[in-house]
Amino acid sequence: MKIPEKIKQELAELRRSLDHHNRLYYTLDAPEIPDADYDAMFDRLQSLELQYDCATPDSPTQRVGNEPLAHFDQVTHEQAMLSLGKVSNEKDLRDFESRVMKRLGSDEALEYSCEPKVDGVAVSLLYRDGILERAATRGDGVTGENITHNVRTINSVPLKLQSGSGKGGAGKDGLSGRLEVRGEIFLSKSGFMRLNERARSDGSKTFVNPRNTAAGAVRQLDPRKAARIPLQMYCYSVGLTDSIKIPSQLSEVFSFLETLGLPVNPERSTRKGIEGCLEYCMDLLDKRNDLDYEIDGAVIKVNDLQTQQSLGQNARTPRWAMAYKFPAEEKSTRVLDVEFQVGRTGTITPVARLDPVFVGGVTVSNTTLHNMDEIERLGLRIGDTVIVRRAGDVIPKVVKVINSAANKKPGKIRVPAKCPACGSPVEKEGEVLYKCSAGIICPAQKKESIKHFASRSAMDIEGLGDKLVEQLVDEELISGVDDIFGLQVADLIELERMGPKSAENLVAAIDKSKATTLPRFLYALGIREVGEATALGLATHYGDLQAIIDADAETHAEIADIGPIVAQHIATFFGNKDNRALIRKLRDHGIHWPAIEKAEASPLEGQTFVLTGTLEEMPRNEAKARLLALGAKVAGSVSKNTNVVVAGPGAGSKRTKAEELGIKIIDEAEFLALLESPN
Ligand code: IVH
Repeated sequence: MKIPEKIKQELAELRRSLDHHNRLYYTLDAPEIPDADYDAMFDRLQSLELQYDCATPDSPTQRVGNEPLAHFDQVTHEQAMLSLGKVSNEKDLRDFESRVMKRLGSDEALEYSCEPKVDGVAVSLLYRDGILERAATRGDGVTGENITHNVRTINSVPLKLQSGSGKGGAGKDGLSGRLEVRGEIFLSKSGFMRLNERARSDGSKTFVNPRNTAAGAVRQLDPRKAARIPLQMYCYSVGLTDSIKIPSQLSEVFSFLETLGLPVNPERSTRKGIEGCLEYCMDLLDKRNDLDYEIDGAVIKVNDLQTQQSLGQNARTPRWAMAYKFPAEEKSTRVLDVEFQVGRTGTITPVARLDPVFVGGVTVSNTTLHNMDEIERLGLRIGDTVIVRRAGDVIPKVVKVINSAANKKPGKIRVPAKCPACGSPVEKEGEVLYKCSAGIICPAQKKESIKHFASRSAMDIEGLGDKLVEQLVDEELISGVDDIFGLQVADLIELERMGPKSAENLVAAIDKSKATTLPRFLYALGIREVGEATALGLATHYGDLQAIIDADAETHAEIADIGPIVAQHIATFFGNKDNRALIRKLRDHGIHWPAIEKAEASPLEGQTFVLTGTLEEMPRNEAKARLLALGAKVAGSVSKNTNVVVAGPGAGSKRTKAEELGIKIIDEAEFLALLESPN
């Protein structure tokens, strides 16, 4: 069909404009037009292409194909895709530099390109005359699989390169011939969480971790399935080229790739000498939890490409690059046993005893399995080999059974019929919860609620740790939190391993703890689902305890971040006369707190804050709680919807992004001043 000239122009303009806004949205994370405008242009292009039957392979409408493949085609990499040597300590990284220097016969410090080692899937993209022609997995380094159909669905991977602007561009249109670009495809942490939230609400299977999810997505035969996973890519090198001239330094190659519209990692940095590299590694390790993608280390590469060439390679690894590995966040180990623990409110929780394993920087020997549903979902039996994951400071978690011992051992896990602490019958509550039926007379519940009461974020009774609480309950010196305040030195010195000095110190600490704050006291009471943030919200909303006791669930639910269920727990707690009597007793023992000013009607309502870096004056959860109490929202990542970023020392990518987006950034001192007078 003949296409009128005017329509041809419109088609070209729509494609150009959609590519441009696509890049602003997905690669630069800085959209300039509302989603609805983008959608309208997209729809117009789609209908013109349909009407004139003129969709081109590089058109923005052609990202997701309609037909699944029957099989993967094999791809031979003309230049092998190498892997990296690994070190995991300073000495071995220094040795790497020594080898490099020795081989070069030089003693002058070299420049290195330092990059995050993104935990994803290595791929090769082949562009011909600027058009994405083929994408392939690394495979064994020589032969990979053709995954073009899936890579086309990744919005930040351009189907067509921007030409003419790069320093290295050659030829009249700059991009004639082939250009192979390599990099890592990955799934962000937030993308992974969103997928799992959706899977949970659909009742479908959840994904184990971002890496496996990304690897699974690129190896889908059906591109429509891959398109459901919001994959991303960071490019880190150029492979084969025909005539396109490439800059001489890796750091410039990154800028060159950027000018072509390819996504590159903003956390890269050029450093001088191995000292600079080590500093980079340490900074990156500090930032690890703040990044929105998983990394398993840093990659250090000689920056000068000519020098890379002259250093050459060993069998499969280059001599000019090295991976500095960070502690693994997932390891496999064996489940030796599953025990049941009784919590503060009587909930019986299964806990896996593990063959101790070093993961995420600590040795883990037991971990909660949450509930029976989780055990069912994992298909876990005692004796199984499992993957344990500990990322950041999140509690360790069994994420997968990898070698089921189910057929070999009768290790099926059953909920005990009787409470392991007091022998009372265990009752089922709701779908997955089991509870000891005895209530607070169960010694385990007693102990747990006293431990919570004395803990640092609650009444903060120094010296009254978990072991001592167990001893005091077992010796029947205390049976409830109010008994703590009747303890005498004479009672305490009777205990094993308790000298007169420690006994005196403890009595003094108990006395000192009586001067507390209302939020701490509320948190210490152990009301179901009332954490520190909710306690603070309650305290600042009502101003005093009696007002909280008198309010009903509906009123509690008016507070930001308190939903109807928690509101009901609060009302039920204060509606119980035993609880009110306990509060009276505690106050009679002299527990007191300064009056607090009632919060004005949410002065920060509608504002979204992001906290990043280290806060030195105030724990992060308190900062968050204070913001919530003032009506603000607190988000985990910076976007165009962020109003203020609070950046402490060590702030990294979130700060950079805020700068790029022109978002207000304040330091901790300014933040504290804002909390004092938010209006
Ligand atoms: S360079 C010859 N740079 O790590 C150099 N690799 O063990 C080969 N990776 O297969 C790769 N981030 O999947 C390089 N910035 C980065 C990387 C990176 C992640 C992965 C890649 C590769 C593996 C090497």
